[in-house]
Amino acid sequence: MTPDLKNKRVLLGISAGIAAYKTPDLVRKLGELGAEVQVVMSKNSEQFVAPLALQAVSGHDVHHYAMTADSESGMGHIDLARWADVVLIAPATANIIARLVQGNADELLTTICVATEARIAVAPAMNQQMWQNPATESNLTTLAQREVLILGPDSGDQACGEVGPGRMLQPVDIAQQLANSFHTGQLTGKKVMITAGPTWEALDPVRGITNHSSGLMGYALAQAAVEAGAEVTLVSGPTHIPSPDHCAIKNVKSALDMHEAVMQSIDQQDIFIGVAAVADYRPVASADQKIKKNADEMTISLVKNPDILADVASLEKRPFCVGFAAETNDVESYARAKLERKKLDLIAANHVGGTETGFGTPDNAITLISSEHSEALPKANKYALARELVERIATHFEQKNH
Ligand code: PMT
Repeated sequence: MTPDLKNKRVLLGISAGIAAYKTPDLVRKLGELGAEVQVVMSKNSEQFVAPLALQAVSGHDVHHYAMTADSESGMGHIDLARWADVVLIAPATANIIARLVQGNADELLTTICVATEARIAVAPAMNQQMWQNPATESNLTTLAQREVLILGPDSGDQACGEVGPGRMLQPVDIAQQLANSFHTGQLTGKKVMITAGPTWEALDPVRGITNHSSGLMGYALAQAAVEAGAEVTLVSGPTHIPSPDHCAIKNVKSALDMHEAVMQSIDQQDIFIGVAAVADYRPVASADQKIKKNADEMTISLVKNPDILADVASLEKRPFCVGFAAETNDVESYARAKLERKKLDLIAANHVGGTETGFGTPDNAITLISSEHSEALPKANKYALARELVERIATHFEQKNH
């Protein structure tokens, strides 16, 4: 499987080096791997590449270097810092590398780098003497220690006529190396089953009981687990989201269907993550034909559905079990009670009912709770949050199995 950048937001920072002329191609290569790209130009970079070209290939307005009332009233520096999954600086001149080391916040791009929690990647591009200068060497070492990803440089003919190391990597290689960096390998060789979406409890052939789960959180977790190297089975209730690549998908409708699909191969799984919003009750019977509007009142009798997560967690040979707890109030205490009652290893307490996080929203925020510890994972888009969560799940799984 070749790593890609699907559902990744790349903020491309362009500094003032001659290799900036290659950045429209870089934007395209990032896009071809699935990334959404926005561009921030540093001071003077506009002398090497036209903002209009970058706007055309990225499909977004280009952000200019100065922080003005205008730029801050649109997507300001904090919004951009939060939007990005990765800030990629390409080309990264010796100057901007030094300013990153200093933590300067003297223009939009450097301010974003100080303000972001996203990873930062740099693709150095400079004259070979500048590259070999001890100051540059030491700056790069500092950045690497801070877990900044250094992509390249390449070696060969340079724009200044010299030959040596310091050329920016080709756009295709930058894009691929960036994609590779999201593939952590933390769950290589592990089998992960995830439930996602709502269930549909039929009343008759055209009506049923369901909820607002879009499936996005579960699908994002499936993608993050694939990126971490796992073999993923996604058991999904009815959703409108395209299936993530490289995972086996079992489409189901009702809670009973979901229970059956899970139990069929649960004995082969290392990790089970219950993200689905499973209906707790279903109609006692589903009518064969459309129910007619005759009586003024009607009563629907419901019967309890099996609890899929609790059943998995009580198996003799059970996988590592992670649940979600969607709550509108007393979120942590209800979640903790579910962790204990269902005998889970971890539970993600999910505040729902507002408009910003939870059911059907692009973003989410959770508190991850185990029997002895809890950690808040703040609001982020569901794909970014899923990567954070998979990293934590892999670490807890490792600890339990050693
Ligand atoms: O799909 P999205 O729009 O992206 O929204 C994501 C989400 C809000 C649905 C998700 O983040 C979430 O919180 N999922 C759990 C929803 C839920 O129904 O929680 P619960 O508290 O009712 O259930 C607790 C746990 O038991 C869950 O892991 C659930 O999957 C599981 N369960 C519940 C009932 C049941 N019969 N079987 C189960 O397996």
